[in-house]
Amino acid sequence: MPWTEAGRYGLEIAKPGELDAFWHANDREWRSELWNFRVVWHEQTHDIAIKDGPEVAGALHVRIAASLAHIEALYVVPAARGAGLGRALIGRCEEVANYYNCHKVSVEVFAEHPAQAFFERCGYKAEAILAQHTFKLDVAVLRKFLL
Ligand SMILES: CC(C)(COP(=O)(O)OP(=O)(O)OC[C@H]1O[C@@H](n2cnc3c(N)ncnc32)[C@H](O)[C@@H]1OP(=O)(O)O)[C@@H](O)C(=O)NCCC(=O)NCCS
Repeated sequence: MPWTEAGRYGLEIAKPGELDAFWHANDREWRSELWNFRVVWHEQTHDIAIKDGPEVAGALHVRIAASLAHIEALYVVPAARGAGLGRALIGRCEEVANYYNCHKVSVEVFAEHPAQAFFERCGYKAEAILAQHTFKLDVAVLRKFLL
């Protein structure tokens, strides 16, 4: 009998934070079932900045989990571009990733966008193209192996 007819379960959009206890209680279980082994999940994020005096000229946000580092944001202010700041941020990010035993750094960018050319200049290679992915645009998944 479909669950809707059983009248037992209710399907709803939870309020913000309402499921925190559920996720906390089942965090290890869902990851372990998904990956088919007991997972101890350590997730962390780091912000890296490059400054011009007190002013932030560029920043990078990286998330590290499951031996992977994922660059979630990178921005160099227009006036400071072309001077190697972006490359320097990537370099420090890779040092942090290496410290936490990541074997790979990955990032998703708009395919064929200048950001892809920038990452390729920094040693990254296209691993996959996700068709019509973010904002319905083709997304290039780029990566660099560290080990
Ligand atoms: C992409 C971005 C971070 C580059 O920062 P930057 O400080 O200007 O880059 P760098 O000066 O360190 O350049 C490193 C290399 O990439 C190349 N490069 C930089 N921007 C490029 C572009 N738009 N197109 C092609 N190559 C580029 C440089 O020529 C340099 O190569 P080289 O060392 O062989 O000469 C910056 O333009 C930016 O913030 N863009 C908007 C946000 C964005 O796209 N973020 C990345 C996605 S998360």
